[in-house]
Amino acid sequence: MNSKGRKTATANLDDYDKAYSTFRWADAEREMGLDPQVGWNIAVEAVDRQAEGPHRGKVAFRFFDGLSTVTLTYHQLKLLTNRFANALRALGVAPGERIALFLPPLPEFYVAFLGVIKLGAIVVPLSPAFMNDALTEMLRDSEAAAVVTLRELLGRIERGKLPAMRRLIVVGSESSPAGTWVGYDPVMAEAADDFTAAPAAREAPIMLMYTSGSTAKPKGVIHVQDGITHYYQSGKWVLDFREQDVYWCTSEPSWVPGISYGIWAPLLHGVTSIIYSGEFAAARWYEILTRFKVTVWYTTPTALRRLMNFGPENPQARYGIKDLRHILTVGEPLNPAVIRWSEKAFGLRVYDTWWMTETGGQMIANFRTLPLKPGSMGRPLPGIQASIVDEEGRELPTLAVGQLAIRAGWPAMMGGIWKDEEKYRDYFRMPPWYLTGDLAYKDADGYFWFQGRVDDVIKKAGERIGPIEIENKLNEHPAVLEAGVIGRPDPLWGEVIKAFVVLRPEYPWSPELQAEIRGFVESRLGSRFVPRDIEVCAKLPRTTSGKLMRRVLKAMELGLPVSDVSGGED
Ligand code: WTA
Repeated sequence: MNSKGRKTATANLDDYDKAYSTFRWADAEREMGLDPQVGWNIAVEAVDRQAEGPHRGKVAFRFFDGLSTVTLTYHQLKLLTNRFANALRALGVAPGERIALFLPPLPEFYVAFLGVIKLGAIVVPLSPAFMNDALTEMLRDSEAAAVVTLRELLGRIERGKLPAMRRLIVVGSESSPAGTWVGYDPVMAEAADDFTAAPAAREAPIMLMYTSGSTAKPKGVIHVQDGITHYYQSGKWVLDFREQDVYWCTSEPSWVPGISYGIWAPLLHGVTSIIYSGEFAAARWYEILTRFKVTVWYTTPTALRRLMNFGPENPQARYGIKDLRHILTVGEPLNPAVIRWSEKAFGLRVYDTWWMTETGGQMIANFRTLPLKPGSMGRPLPGIQASIVDEEGRELPTLAVGQLAIRAGWPAMMGGIWKDEEKYRDYFRMPPWYLTGDLAYKDADGYFWFQGRVDDVIKKAGERIGPIEIENKLNEHPAVLEAGVIGRPDPLWGEVIKAFVVLRPEYPWSPELQAEIRGFVESRLGSRFVPRDIEVCAKLPRTTSGKLMRRVLKAMELGLPVSDVSGGED
Protein backbone atom coordinates (compact mmCIF):
# COMPACT_ATOMS: atom_id res chain seq x y z
CA MET A 1 0.00 0.00 0.00
CA ASN A 2 2.99 2.34 0.41
CA SER A 3 4.01 3.20 -3.12
CA LYS A 4 0.93 2.63 -5.21
CA GLY A 5 -1.22 5.55 -4.16
CA ARG A 6 -4.96 5.42 -4.19
CA LYS A 7 -7.08 5.70 -7.29
CA THR A 8 -10.52 7.17 -7.45
CA ALA A 9 -13.29 4.68 -7.05
CA THR A 10 -15.55 4.33 -10.01
CA ALA A 11 -17.85 1.62 -8.75
CA ASN A 12 -21.20 3.11 -7.94
CA LEU A 13 -23.84 1.36 -5.95
CA ASP A 14 -25.31 -0.41 -8.94
CA ASP A 15 -27.23 -2.93 -6.94
CA TYR A 16 -28.29 -1.57 -3.58
CA ASP A 17 -30.03 -4.73 -2.42
CA LYS A 18 -27.04 -6.88 -3.19
CA ALA A 19 -24.60 -4.50 -1.55
CA TYR A 20 -26.92 -4.16 1.41
CA SER A 21 -26.97 -7.87 2.06
CA THR A 22 -23.34 -8.67 1.31
CA PHE A 23 -21.20 -5.64 2.12
CA ARG A 24 -18.93 -5.79 5.18
CA TRP A 25 -16.81 -2.89 6.43
CA ALA A 26 -13.79 -5.19 6.36
CA ASP A 27 -14.23 -5.31 2.56
CA ALA A 28 -13.68 -1.57 2.44
CA GLU A 29 -10.57 -1.90 4.60
CA ARG A 30 -9.15 -4.40 2.14
CA GLU A 31 -10.08 -2.30 -0.85
CA MET A 32 -8.29 0.66 0.74
CA GLY A 33 -5.24 -1.41 1.58
CA LEU A 34 -5.53 -0.80 5.32
CA ASP A 35 -3.98 -3.24 7.73
CA PRO A 36 -5.87 -3.23 11.03
CA GLN A 37 -2.99 -5.06 12.71
CA VAL A 38 -0.53 -2.28 11.96
CA GLY A 39 -3.02 0.60 12.10
CA TRP A 40 -2.85 3.72 9.97
CA ASN A 41 -2.88 7.50 10.03
CA ILE A 42 -6.01 8.83 8.36
CA ALA A 43 -4.34 12.05 7.19
CA VAL A 44 -1.55 10.09 5.52
CA GLU A 45 -4.14 7.85 3.86
CA ALA A 46 -6.14 10.84 2.65
CA VAL A 47 -3.28 13.03 1.44
CA ASP A 48 0.04 11.21 1.04
CA ARG A 49 -1.46 8.16 -0.70
CA GLN A 50 -2.90 10.46 -3.35
CA ALA A 51 0.28 12.49 -3.64
CA GLU A 52 2.34 9.34 -4.07
CA GLY A 53 0.06 8.03 -6.81
CA PRO A 54 -1.47 9.42 -9.97
CA HIS A 55 -2.92 12.46 -8.18
CA ARG A 56 0.39 14.07 -7.21
CA GLY A 57 -0.15 17.19 -9.31
CA LYS A 58 -3.94 17.20 -9.08
CA VAL A 59 -5.62 20.05 -7.23
CA ALA A 60 -6.91 18.87 -3.87
CA PHE A 61 -8.38 22.20 -2.77
CA ARG A 62 -9.22 25.32 -4.72
CA PHE A 63 -9.86 28.16 -2.27
CA PHE A 64 -11.99 31.08 -3.33
CA ASP A 65 -12.72 34.10 -1.14
CA GLY A 66 -14.86 35.93 -3.65
CA LEU A 67 -11.89 37.71 -5.23
CA SER A 68 -8.95 35.44 -5.67
CA THR A 69 -8.19 31.77 -5.92
CA VAL A 70 -5.47 29.75 -4.22
CA THR A 71 -4.85 26.12 -5.08
CA LEU A 72 -3.12 23.30 -3.26
CA THR A 73 -2.23 20.14 -5.11
CA TYR A 74 -2.12 16.81 -3.33
CA HIS A 75 1.65 16.98 -3.35
CA GLN A 76 1.75 20.50 -1.91
CA LEU A 77 -0.79 19.48 0.71
CA LYS A 78 1.40 16.56 1.68
CA LEU A 79 4.45 18.76 2.18
CA LEU A 80 2.62 21.53 4.01
CA THR A 81 0.85 19.17 6.38
CA ASN A 82 4.18 17.49 7.11
CA ARG A 83 5.63 20.89 7.89
CA PHE A 84 2.79 21.76 10.20
CA ALA A 85 3.19 18.47 12.07
CA ASN A 86 6.91 19.22 12.46
CA ALA A 87 6.20 22.79 13.52
CA LEU A 88 3.81 21.64 16.23
CA ARG A 89 6.35 19.15 17.49
CA ALA A 90 8.98 21.89 17.60
CA LEU A 91 6.57 23.98 19.64
CA GLY A 92 6.36 21.18 22.18
CA VAL A 93 2.99 19.72 21.24
CA ALA A 94 2.69 16.01 22.00
CA PRO A 95 0.44 13.38 20.40
CA GLY A 96 -2.94 13.20 22.11
CA GLU A 97 -3.01 16.90 23.00
CA ARG A 98 -5.86 19.04 21.70
CA ILE A 99 -5.15 21.75 19.16
CA ALA A 100 -7.99 24.14 18.42
CA LEU A 101 -8.48 25.78 15.03
CA PHE A 102 -10.32 29.03 15.58
CA LEU A 103 -10.16 30.03 11.96
CA PRO A 104 -12.29 30.58 8.87
CA PRO A 105 -11.88 28.06 6.01
CA LEU A 106 -8.56 29.42 4.77
CA PRO A 107 -5.85 27.18 3.28
CA GLU A 108 -4.13 27.31 6.68
CA PHE A 109 -7.17 25.73 8.31
CA TYR A 110 -6.88 22.66 6.10
CA VAL A 111 -3.11 22.41 6.40
CA ALA A 112 -3.29 22.71 10.19
CA PHE A 113 -6.21 20.28 10.44
CA LEU A 114 -4.37 17.52 8.61
CA GLY A 115 -1.01 18.39 10.20
CA VAL A 116 -2.41 18.03 13.71
CA ILE A 117 -3.73 14.59 12.83
CA LYS A 118 -0.46 13.52 11.22
CA LEU A 119 1.24 14.32 14.51
CA GLY A 120 -1.30 12.16 16.33
CA ALA A 121 -2.76 15.13 18.19
CA ILE A 122 -6.50 15.84 18.35
CA VAL A 123 -7.95 18.68 16.31
CA VAL A 124 -10.78 20.88 17.61
CA PRO A 125 -12.44 22.94 14.86
CA LEU A 126 -14.15 26.06 16.24
CA SER A 127 -16.23 28.50 14.26
CA PRO A 128 -14.88 32.06 14.08
CA ALA A 129 -18.49 33.08 14.68
CA PHE A 130 -18.14 32.11 18.35
CA MET A 131 -17.78 35.03 20.72
CA ASN A 132 -15.84 34.95 23.99
CA ASP A 133 -18.08 32.96 26.30
CA ALA A 134 -18.99 30.26 23.78
CA LEU A 135 -15.36 29.94 22.74
CA THR A 136 -13.99 29.86 26.27
CA GLU A 137 -16.37 27.05 27.16
CA MET A 138 -14.99 24.77 24.43
CA LEU A 139 -11.35 25.73 24.85
CA ARG A 140 -11.65 24.98 28.57
CA ASP A 141 -13.52 21.74 28.15
CA SER A 142 -11.06 20.42 25.56
CA GLU A 143 -8.06 21.72 27.55
CA ALA A 144 -6.56 22.80 24.26
CA ALA A 145 -2.78 23.16 24.43
CA ALA A 146 -2.64 25.47 21.41
CA VAL A 147 -4.95 27.53 19.24
CA VAL A 148 -4.38 28.41 15.62
CA THR A 149 -6.18 31.66 14.87
CA LEU A 150 -6.15 35.08 13.23
CA ARG A 151 -4.90 38.27 14.79
CA GLU A 152 -8.35 39.84 14.71
CA LEU A 153 -9.77 36.91 16.68
CA LEU A 154 -7.11 36.97 19.42
CA GLY A 155 -9.18 39.26 21.61
CA ARG A 156 -11.76 36.53 22.13
CA ILE A 157 -9.27 34.08 23.56
CA GLU A 158 -9.28 34.78 27.27
CA ARG A 159 -6.01 33.21 28.24
CA GLY A 160 -6.46 33.91 31.91
CA LYS A 161 -9.33 31.40 31.91
CA LEU A 162 -7.40 28.77 29.97
CA PRO A 163 -4.69 27.24 32.13
CA ALA A 164 -3.96 24.40 29.67
CA MET A 165 -3.18 26.73 26.79
CA ARG A 166 0.52 27.07 26.08
CA ARG A 167 0.68 28.29 22.50
CA LEU A 168 -1.08 30.68 20.15
CA ILE A 169 -0.26 30.35 16.47
CA VAL A 170 -1.37 33.32 14.41
CA VAL A 171 -2.01 32.97 10.69
CA GLY A 172 -0.80 35.86 8.55
CA SER A 173 1.34 37.36 11.27
CA GLU A 174 4.94 37.49 12.45
CA SER A 175 5.69 36.16 15.91
CA SER A 176 4.92 38.76 18.55
CA PRO A 177 8.01 40.47 19.96
CA ALA A 178 6.83 39.83 23.52
CA GLY A 179 6.46 36.13 22.79
CA THR A 180 2.68 36.14 23.32
CA TRP A 181 2.16 34.27 20.09
CA VAL A 182 4.12 32.73 17.24
CA GLY A 183 3.43 33.48 13.61
CA TYR A 184 2.21 30.64 11.40
CA ASP A 185 4.50 31.60 8.51
CA PRO A 186 7.73 31.83 10.49
CA VAL A 187 7.19 28.49 12.24
CA MET A 188 6.28 26.84 8.95
CA ALA A 189 9.39 28.32 7.30
CA GLU A 190 11.61 26.63 9.85
CA ALA A 191 9.93 23.23 9.64
CA ALA A 192 11.10 20.37 7.45
CA ASP A 193 8.73 19.02 4.84
CA ASP A 194 9.15 15.36 5.54
CA PHE A 195 7.43 13.76 8.45
CA THR A 196 6.78 10.15 9.36
CA ALA A 197 3.41 9.72 10.99
CA ALA A 198 3.07 6.88 13.46
CA PRO A 199 0.30 4.44 12.55
CA ALA A 200 -2.39 4.30 15.20
CA ALA A 201 -5.26 2.02 16.13
CA ARG A 202 -8.80 2.31 14.79
CA GLU A 203 -10.07 3.79 18.01
CA ALA A 204 -7.38 6.49 18.24
CA PRO A 205 -9.12 9.89 18.49
CA ILE A 206 -8.51 12.45 15.76
CA MET A 207 -11.03 15.21 16.44
CA LEU A 208 -13.37 16.74 18.97
CA MET A 209 -16.39 18.27 17.31
CA TYR A 210 -18.47 20.37 19.67
CA THR A 211 -22.19 20.20 19.22
CA SER A 212 -25.24 21.22 21.20
CA GLY A 213 -28.02 19.22 22.74
CA SER A 214 -30.51 19.53 25.53
CA THR A 215 -27.89 20.28 28.17
CA ALA A 216 -26.33 23.48 29.42
CA LYS A 217 -23.05 22.94 27.63
CA PRO A 218 -21.95 21.83 24.19
CA LYS A 219 -20.39 18.38 24.16
CA GLY A 220 -17.16 17.34 22.50
CA VAL A 221 -17.96 14.43 20.20
CA ILE A 222 -14.85 12.31 19.66
CA HIS A 223 -14.17 11.13 16.12
CA VAL A 224 -11.71 8.30 15.61
CA GLN A 225 -9.46 6.96 12.86
CA ASP A 226 -11.83 4.11 12.12
CA GLY A 227 -14.17 6.51 10.30
CA ILE A 228 -11.92 6.27 7.23
CA THR A 229 -13.80 3.40 5.58
CA HIS A 230 -17.12 5.08 6.23
CA TYR A 231 -16.04 8.39 4.65
CA TYR A 232 -14.67 6.47 1.70
CA GLN A 233 -17.67 4.24 1.11
CA SER A 234 -20.20 7.04 1.46
CA GLY A 235 -18.13 9.17 -0.91
CA LYS A 236 -18.49 6.39 -3.40
CA TRP A 237 -22.10 5.37 -2.86
CA VAL A 238 -23.83 8.58 -1.87
CA LEU A 239 -21.73 11.42 -3.26
CA ASP A 240 -20.99 9.21 -6.26
CA PHE A 241 -17.47 10.60 -6.76
CA ARG A 242 -15.75 10.15 -10.14
CA GLU A 243 -12.21 10.92 -11.15
CA GLN A 244 -13.03 14.19 -12.93
CA ASP A 245 -15.35 15.59 -10.29
CA VAL A 246 -15.16 19.12 -8.98
CA TYR A 247 -16.88 18.99 -5.65
CA TRP A 248 -18.29 21.77 -3.51
CA CYS A 249 -19.34 21.11 0.07
CA THR A 250 -20.78 24.41 1.25
CA SER A 251 -20.58 23.61 4.95
CA GLU A 252 -17.92 25.38 6.98
CA PRO A 253 -15.43 23.04 8.64
CA SER A 254 -16.73 23.99 12.08
CA TRP A 255 -19.82 21.91 11.27
CA VAL A 256 -19.39 18.18 10.82
CA PRO A 257 -20.38 17.94 7.13
CA GLY A 258 -17.47 20.30 6.39
CA ILE A 259 -15.13 17.71 7.90
CA SER A 260 -16.41 14.23 7.02
CA TYR A 261 -17.55 15.41 3.58
CA GLY A 262 -15.52 18.61 3.22
CA ILE A 263 -12.16 16.99 3.96
CA TRP A 264 -12.14 13.21 4.32
CA ALA A 265 -14.43 11.84 1.63
CA PRO A 266 -13.16 14.04 -1.23
CA LEU A 267 -9.48 13.54 -0.33
CA LEU A 268 -9.87 9.80 0.02
CA HIS A 269 -11.29 9.79 -3.50
CA GLY A 270 -8.70 12.13 -4.93
CA VAL A 271 -11.24 14.62 -6.23
CA THR A 272 -10.83 18.40 -6.39
CA SER A 273 -12.78 20.43 -3.81
CA ILE A 274 -13.84 24.05 -3.96
CA ILE A 275 -13.65 25.86 -0.63
CA TYR A 276 -15.51 29.15 -0.55
CA SER A 277 -14.80 31.33 2.46
CA GLY A 278 -17.06 34.28 1.71
CA GLU A 279 -20.60 35.16 2.73
CA PHE A 280 -23.71 33.69 1.21
CA ALA A 281 -24.98 35.60 -1.82
CA ALA A 282 -27.12 33.88 -4.44
CA ALA A 283 -25.41 35.40 -7.50
CA ARG A 284 -22.00 34.57 -6.02
CA TRP A 285 -23.01 30.97 -5.39
CA TYR A 286 -24.22 30.55 -8.95
CA GLU A 287 -20.98 32.12 -10.12
CA ILE A 288 -19.01 29.51 -8.15
CA LEU A 289 -20.94 26.66 -9.75
CA THR A 290 -20.18 28.04 -13.20
CA ARG A 291 -16.67 29.38 -12.77
CA PHE A 292 -15.27 26.26 -11.16
CA LYS A 293 -17.41 23.81 -13.15
CA VAL A 294 -18.77 22.17 -10.03
CA THR A 295 -20.14 18.69 -10.68
CA VAL A 296 -21.11 17.43 -7.22
CA TRP A 297 -22.65 19.82 -4.74
CA TYR A 298 -23.37 19.06 -1.08
CA THR A 299 -25.34 21.78 0.68
CA THR A 300 -28.32 22.38 2.97
CA PRO A 301 -32.04 22.74 2.33
CA THR A 302 -31.90 26.27 3.76
CA ALA A 303 -29.23 27.29 1.27
CA LEU A 304 -31.36 25.96 -1.59
CA ARG A 305 -34.44 27.77 -0.24
CA ARG A 306 -32.44 30.99 -0.11
CA LEU A 307 -31.48 30.51 -3.75
CA MET A 308 -35.07 29.66 -4.58
CA ASN A 309 -36.27 32.92 -2.97
CA PHE A 310 -33.66 34.91 -4.82
CA GLY A 311 -34.71 33.73 -8.27
CA PRO A 312 -34.34 33.81 -11.21
CA GLU A 313 -36.57 30.96 -12.25
CA ASN A 314 -33.97 29.36 -14.44
CA PRO A 315 -30.47 29.85 -13.02
CA GLN A 316 -29.10 27.02 -15.11
CA ALA A 317 -29.58 28.97 -18.35
CA ARG A 318 -29.14 32.40 -16.82
CA TYR A 319 -25.76 31.59 -15.26
CA GLY A 320 -24.66 28.92 -17.70
CA ILE A 321 -24.44 26.12 -15.14
CA LYS A 322 -23.41 23.19 -17.32
CA ASP A 323 -21.39 20.74 -15.32
CA LEU A 324 -23.49 20.06 -12.25
CA ARG A 325 -24.62 16.45 -12.12
CA HIS A 326 -25.44 15.64 -8.49
CA ILE A 327 -26.95 17.74 -5.68
CA LEU A 328 -27.29 16.57 -2.09
CA THR A 329 -28.33 18.11 1.21
CA VAL A 330 -27.93 17.42 4.91
CA GLY A 331 -28.83 18.75 8.32
CA GLU A 332 -32.57 19.38 8.26
CA PRO A 333 -35.67 18.10 6.47
CA LEU A 334 -35.56 18.55 2.70
CA ASN A 335 -39.02 19.67 1.71
CA PRO A 336 -40.31 18.35 -1.63
CA ALA A 337 -40.90 21.89 -2.93
CA VAL A 338 -37.12 22.36 -3.01
CA ILE A 339 -36.71 19.22 -5.09
CA ARG A 340 -39.37 20.42 -7.53
CA TRP A 341 -37.67 23.80 -7.80
CA SER A 342 -34.29 22.19 -8.35
CA GLU A 343 -35.65 20.12 -11.19
CA LYS A 344 -36.65 23.32 -12.94
CA ALA A 345 -33.64 25.32 -11.85
CA PHE A 346 -30.87 22.80 -12.60
CA GLY A 347 -32.60 19.90 -14.31
CA LEU A 348 -31.58 17.80 -11.30
CA ARG A 349 -33.30 16.39 -8.24
CA VAL A 350 -31.89 16.83 -4.75
CA TYR A 351 -30.74 13.83 -2.74
CA ASP A 352 -31.28 14.07 0.99
CA THR A 353 -28.86 12.51 3.47
CA TRP A 354 -29.41 11.96 7.19
CA TRP A 355 -26.72 11.74 9.83
CA MET A 356 -25.41 13.43 12.96
CA THR A 357 -22.18 14.72 14.48
CA GLU A 358 -22.25 11.60 16.66
CA THR A 359 -22.64 9.20 13.74
CA GLY A 360 -19.59 10.71 12.05
CA GLY A 361 -20.78 9.79 8.57
CA GLN A 362 -23.96 9.42 6.55
CA MET A 363 -26.36 6.78 7.86
CA ILE A 364 -29.44 7.11 5.70
CA ALA A 365 -29.47 8.57 2.22
CA ASN A 366 -31.14 8.73 -1.12
CA PHE A 367 -29.04 6.90 -3.67
CA ARG A 368 -28.85 7.76 -7.33
CA THR A 369 -29.50 4.14 -8.19
CA LEU A 370 -32.74 3.91 -6.21
CA PRO A 371 -36.07 5.62 -6.82
CA LEU A 372 -36.12 8.96 -5.01
CA LYS A 373 -39.05 9.63 -2.71
CA PRO A 374 -39.28 13.39 -2.13
CA GLY A 375 -39.70 14.07 1.59
CA SER A 376 -37.93 10.90 2.65
CA MET A 377 -34.40 10.74 4.04
CA GLY A 378 -33.85 7.58 2.01
CA ARG A 379 -32.51 4.18 3.03
CA PRO A 380 -29.63 3.06 5.26
CA LEU A 381 -26.18 2.74 3.72
CA PRO A 382 -24.93 -0.80 3.24
CA GLY A 383 -23.27 -1.71 6.52
CA ILE A 384 -25.79 0.34 8.52
CA GLN A 385 -28.83 -1.12 10.24
CA ALA A 386 -31.49 1.43 11.13
CA SER A 387 -34.76 0.84 12.91
CA ILE A 388 -37.62 2.57 14.70
CA VAL A 389 -37.91 1.71 18.39
CA ASP A 390 -40.25 2.43 21.27
CA GLU A 391 -39.34 3.66 24.77
CA GLU A 392 -38.09 0.22 25.74
CA GLY A 393 -35.96 -0.21 22.64
CA ARG A 394 -38.38 -2.67 20.99
CA GLU A 395 -38.55 -2.45 17.22
CA LEU A 396 -41.77 -0.95 15.89
CA PRO A 397 -43.62 -2.07 12.76
CA THR A 398 -43.69 -0.24 9.43
CA LEU A 399 -45.29 3.22 9.51
CA ALA A 400 -45.23 3.49 13.32
CA VAL A 401 -43.55 6.67 14.56
CA GLY A 402 -40.86 6.13 17.16
CA GLN A 403 -37.26 6.91 17.85
CA LEU A 404 -34.80 6.37 15.04
CA ALA A 405 -32.12 3.95 16.24
CA ILE A 406 -28.98 2.55 14.61
CA ARG A 407 -27.40 -0.75 15.53
CA ALA A 408 -24.21 0.32 17.32
CA GLY A 409 -20.81 -0.36 15.83
CA TRP A 410 -20.25 1.30 12.45
CA PRO A 411 -16.81 2.72 11.60
CA ALA A 412 -17.43 6.48 11.90
CA MET A 413 -19.40 6.13 15.14
CA MET A 414 -18.17 8.52 17.80
CA GLY A 415 -15.56 7.10 20.14
CA GLY A 416 -16.91 8.97 23.13
CA ILE A 417 -18.01 12.30 24.51
CA TRP A 418 -14.99 14.20 25.78
CA LYS A 419 -14.79 13.96 29.58
CA ASP A 420 -18.42 12.82 29.79
CA GLU A 421 -18.68 9.06 29.89
CA GLU A 422 -22.22 9.21 31.27
CA LYS A 423 -23.50 11.31 28.39
CA TYR A 424 -21.88 8.88 25.99
CA ARG A 425 -23.41 5.82 27.60
CA ASP A 426 -26.82 7.43 27.50
CA TYR A 427 -26.89 7.14 23.69
CA PHE A 428 -26.41 3.38 24.03
CA ARG A 429 -28.71 2.73 26.98
CA MET A 430 -30.88 0.29 25.00
CA PRO A 431 -28.55 -2.27 23.46
CA PRO A 432 -27.96 -3.00 20.65
CA TRP A 433 -29.12 0.47 19.65
CA TYR A 434 -27.55 3.87 19.35
CA LEU A 435 -30.43 6.27 20.04
CA THR A 436 -30.53 9.25 17.73
CA GLY A 437 -33.04 11.50 19.50
CA ASP A 438 -34.90 11.84 16.20
CA LEU A 439 -38.45 10.68 15.57
CA ALA A 440 -39.17 8.93 12.31
CA TYR A 441 -41.02 6.09 10.65
CA LYS A 442 -40.08 3.55 8.05
CA ASP A 443 -42.28 2.78 5.04
CA ALA A 444 -42.92 -0.55 3.36
CA ASP A 445 -40.05 0.03 0.91
CA GLY A 446 -37.55 0.59 3.70
CA TYR A 447 -37.40 4.39 3.31
CA PHE A 448 -37.20 6.52 6.46
CA TRP A 449 -39.29 9.65 7.03
CA PHE A 450 -38.19 12.28 9.54
CA GLN A 451 -40.83 13.43 12.02
CA GLY A 452 -39.04 15.66 14.52
CA ARG A 453 -36.84 15.53 17.60
CA VAL A 454 -37.56 13.92 20.96
CA ASP A 455 -35.74 16.77 22.70
CA ASP A 456 -35.78 20.55 22.38
CA VAL A 457 -32.79 20.93 20.09
CA ILE A 458 -33.23 23.78 17.60
CA LYS A 459 -32.18 23.47 13.95
CA LYS A 460 -31.66 26.84 12.29
CA ALA A 461 -30.36 26.55 8.72
CA GLY A 462 -29.17 23.09 9.72
CA GLU A 463 -27.18 24.50 12.66
CA ARG A 464 -27.79 22.63 15.87
CA ILE A 465 -28.55 25.00 18.71
CA GLY A 466 -29.11 24.08 22.36
CA PRO A 467 -31.94 26.08 23.97
CA ILE A 468 -30.43 25.85 27.45
CA GLU A 469 -27.19 27.47 26.34
CA ILE A 470 -29.19 30.50 25.23
CA GLU A 471 -31.50 30.47 28.27
CA ASN A 472 -28.49 30.51 30.59
CA LYS A 473 -27.04 33.47 28.75
CA LEU A 474 -30.35 35.34 28.82
CA ASN A 475 -30.51 34.71 32.55
CA GLU A 476 -27.21 36.50 32.98
CA HIS A 477 -28.77 39.71 31.71
CA PRO A 478 -29.79 41.94 34.62
CA ALA A 479 -33.31 42.50 33.25
CA VAL A 480 -34.11 38.81 32.89
CA LEU A 481 -35.56 36.80 35.74
CA GLU A 482 -36.06 33.61 33.75
CA ALA A 483 -36.07 32.55 30.13
CA GLY A 484 -37.37 29.75 27.91
CA VAL A 485 -36.11 29.22 24.38
CA ILE A 486 -37.66 27.26 21.54
CA GLY A 487 -37.32 26.82 17.80
CA ARG A 488 -40.20 28.28 15.83
CA PRO A 489 -40.81 26.68 12.44
CA ASP A 490 -39.83 29.00 9.63
CA PRO A 491 -40.36 28.48 5.90
CA LEU A 492 -36.87 29.71 5.01
CA TRP A 493 -34.57 28.82 7.90
CA GLY A 494 -36.25 25.62 9.00
CA GLU A 495 -36.47 27.05 12.50
CA VAL A 496 -35.72 30.40 14.08
CA ILE A 497 -34.99 31.06 17.74
CA LYS A 498 -37.77 32.39 19.89
CA ALA A 499 -37.24 33.38 23.52
CA PHE A 500 -39.82 33.87 26.24
CA VAL A 501 -38.61 35.93 29.16
CA VAL A 502 -39.92 36.95 32.53
CA LEU A 503 -38.51 40.37 33.34
CA ARG A 504 -37.52 41.73 36.71
CA PRO A 505 -40.17 44.23 37.76
CA GLU A 506 -37.80 47.19 37.67
CA TYR A 507 -37.19 46.72 33.92
CA PRO A 508 -40.09 47.89 31.75
CA TRP A 509 -40.24 46.23 28.33
CA SER A 510 -39.23 48.38 25.39
CA PRO A 511 -37.79 47.94 21.91
CA GLU A 512 -34.52 49.26 23.30
CA LEU A 513 -34.40 46.62 25.99
CA GLN A 514 -35.16 43.92 23.43
CA ALA A 515 -32.30 45.17 21.25
CA GLU A 516 -30.02 45.30 24.25
CA ILE A 517 -30.80 41.75 25.30
CA ARG A 518 -30.26 40.49 21.76
CA GLY A 519 -26.97 42.38 21.60
CA PHE A 520 -25.97 40.86 24.94
CA VAL A 521 -26.40 37.33 23.59
CA GLU A 522 -24.68 38.22 20.34
CA SER A 523 -21.61 39.73 21.98
CA ARG A 524 -21.10 36.82 24.37
CA LEU A 525 -22.11 33.77 22.36
CA GLY A 526 -22.29 34.89 18.73
CA SER A 527 -24.93 35.92 16.21
CA ARG A 528 -26.17 32.39 15.54
CA PHE A 529 -27.55 32.22 19.11
CA VAL A 530 -29.53 35.46 19.01
CA PRO A 531 -33.30 35.04 19.37
CA ARG A 532 -35.23 36.38 16.41
CA ASP A 533 -38.06 37.36 18.76
CA ILE A 534 -38.27 37.89 22.46
CA GLU A 535 -41.69 37.74 24.07
CA VAL A 536 -42.30 38.89 27.60
CA CYS A 537 -44.55 36.81 29.77
CA ALA A 538 -45.59 36.80 33.40
CA LYS A 539 -44.54 33.24 34.09
CA LEU A 540 -43.00 30.25 32.32
CA PRO A 541 -44.71 26.85 32.18
CA ARG A 542 -42.94 24.46 34.54
CA THR A 543 -43.58 20.99 35.88
CA THR A 544 -44.27 20.68 39.59
CA SER A 545 -40.61 19.79 40.01
CA GLY A 546 -39.68 23.06 38.31
CA LYS A 547 -38.61 21.74 34.95
CA LEU A 548 -39.22 24.14 32.09
CA MET A 549 -41.77 22.77 29.61
CA ARG A 550 -40.54 24.02 26.26
CA ARG A 551 -43.07 21.97 24.37
CA VAL A 552 -45.82 23.96 26.08
CA LEU A 553 -44.14 27.16 24.97
CA LYS A 554 -43.96 25.72 21.49
CA ALA A 555 -47.61 24.73 21.45
CA MET A 556 -48.56 28.21 22.61
CA GLU A 557 -46.40 29.75 19.93
CA LEU A 558 -48.03 27.62 17.25
CA GLY A 559 -51.53 28.09 18.63
CA LEU A 560 -51.87 24.36 19.17
CA PRO A 561 -53.70 22.67 22.02
CA VAL A 562 -51.37 22.09 24.93
CA SER A 563 -51.75 18.35 25.26
CA ASP A 564 -50.31 16.19 27.98
CA VAL A 565 -49.15 18.75 30.45
CA SER A 566 -49.50 16.27 33.26
CA GLY A 567 -47.26 17.15 36.13
CA GLY A 568 -47.46 20.75 35.05
CA GLU A 569 -49.16 23.76 36.42
CA ASP A 570 -50.76 26.82 34.85
C1 WTA B 1 -31.09 16.66 11.93
C2 WTA B 1 -25.72 17.25 10.88
C3 WTA B 1 -33.98 15.79 8.77
C4 WTA B 1 -31.51 15.53 12.86
C5 WTA B 1 -24.96 16.32 9.91
C6 WTA B 1 -30.19 15.09 13.45
C7 WTA B 1 -31.89 15.95 9.70
C8 WTA B 1 -29.45 16.39 13.57
C9 WTA B 1 -31.29 15.50 8.50
C10 WTA B 1 -27.96 16.25 13.60
C11 WTA B 1 -32.16 15.19 7.41
C12 WTA B 1 -29.74 15.84 9.97
N1 WTA B 1 -33.48 15.35 7.59
N2 WTA B 1 -33.21 16.08 9.83
N3 WTA B 1 -31.67 14.78 6.25
N4 WTA B 1 -29.96 15.44 8.70
N5 WTA B 1 -30.90 16.16 10.57
O1 WTA B 1 -25.14 16.88 14.48
O2 WTA B 1 -32.36 16.06 13.86
O3 WTA B 1 -25.53 19.11 13.38
O4 WTA B 1 -30.34 14.46 14.71
O5 WTA B 1 -25.38 16.94 12.12
O6 WTA B 1 -29.84 17.12 12.41
O7 WTA B 1 -27.36 17.50 13.57
P1 WTA B 1 -25.81 17.67 13.43
